[in-house]
Amino acid sequence: MAIVTARPEPRPGVLSIDAYVPGKSAAAGVEKVYKLSSNETPLGPSPHAIAAVRAAADHISYYPDGSATRLRHAIAAKYGLDAGRIVCGAGSDELLNLLTHAYIGPGDEGLFSEHGFLVYRIAILAAGGTPVVAPEKNLTTDVDALLARVTERTKIVFLANPNNPTGTYIPFDEVKRLHAGLPPHVLLVLDAAYAEYVRRNDYASGLELVATSDNVVMTRTFSKIYGLAGLRLGWGYMPAHVADALNRIRGPFNIGAPALEAGIAALADDAHIAASVAHNEEWLPWLTREIEKLGLSVTPSVGNFLLIHFPDEAKRGARAADAFLSARGLILRGVGAYGLPNALRLTIGTAEANRLVVAALADFLRGGDA
Ligand SMILES: Cc1ncc(COP(=O)(O)O)c(C=O)c1O
Repeated sequence: MAIVTARPEPRPGVLSIDAYVPGKSAAAGVEKVYKLSSNETPLGPSPHAIAAVRAAADHISYYPDGSATRLRHAIAAKYGLDAGRIVCGAGSDELLNLLTHAYIGPGDEGLFSEHGFLVYRIAILAAGGTPVVAPEKNLTTDVDALLARVTERTKIVFLANPNNPTGTYIPFDEVKRLHAGLPPHVLLVLDAAYAEYVRRNDYASGLELVATSDNVVMTRTFSKIYGLAGLRLGWGYMPAHVADALNRIRGPFNIGAPALEAGIAALADDAHIAASVAHNEEWLPWLTREIEKLGLSVTPSVGNFLLIHFPDEAKRGARAADAFLSARGLILRGVGAYGLPNALRLTIGTAEANRLVVAALADFLRGGDA
């Protein structure tokens, strides 16, 4: 018998999802705001990308190229890849969601680590699947803990490497060990949103593993080092059979023409990318050092952000610090939703913003006025 309800109802489970809460971008009563809450680049986009968006504005009455052909070929040329195995999305978020909807349904499990990026949980629940969480060690992915939770129902393992919000990473040997321990029916999704920032000899984003296996996908974004977060653009490299599945379910024109053009221009601006890396190389260690000197602990990060830990007490805790910093226009990110109620995440900002954060934290810990 058909079940009749008084109004349309979403599928079971949809209304129990906690929606993703983006980083704040304003502070009440403060004129000058330094947004350090969403891991955006303080250098902004390449001027060539801005010019490309302006030029594309003249043509927006036309649909974009639904296959993102020129962008895929530009990515393929830059990294030496097969353009046929690249799929572009409106941010890597869209790709993570498409992958989940293509491979997970009711009764299936999606696995990720304790402080893993929140979009995985939301995507798995939205697809009707079951999120399974593996504990971490020292705020770092624990490959053995992940492998121990793989069952015959596991369809996807998500690994953000480096992870947000912890900033930690696992070496490529560990990624390979994780892959080797997975049954062939499990898709390993390597989310490399911050790969361009990492300066470690034992790190790799995973392209090599994608190229040599049938069950690995790597996703990348234009939102971080390329400074195009507002346009929504990401890409993934994957086996041809996975690309085929995603191309069947994605929107036919999922990326706007200005974003496609900006992406092509941004990819080619090596000097801008090098400047962003150099800025991060200078300020990530500086902030880590200066904040530790204040007596706070900082998780060692390889990304463009860091996690600052506060004492578990009301007056000098993370919530009080967040309010204090916000009153000075310094907007950090509370990470209670990630199971880290005593920490704040700080994006590496401009030299000015970074100095202001350290000064404000010093005043906060001294019990001064905001
Ligand atoms: C680990 C990780 N993956 C993916 C994303 C999504 O990026 P976008 O959808 O802007 O490409 C983010 C953004 O914060 C992230 O931190």
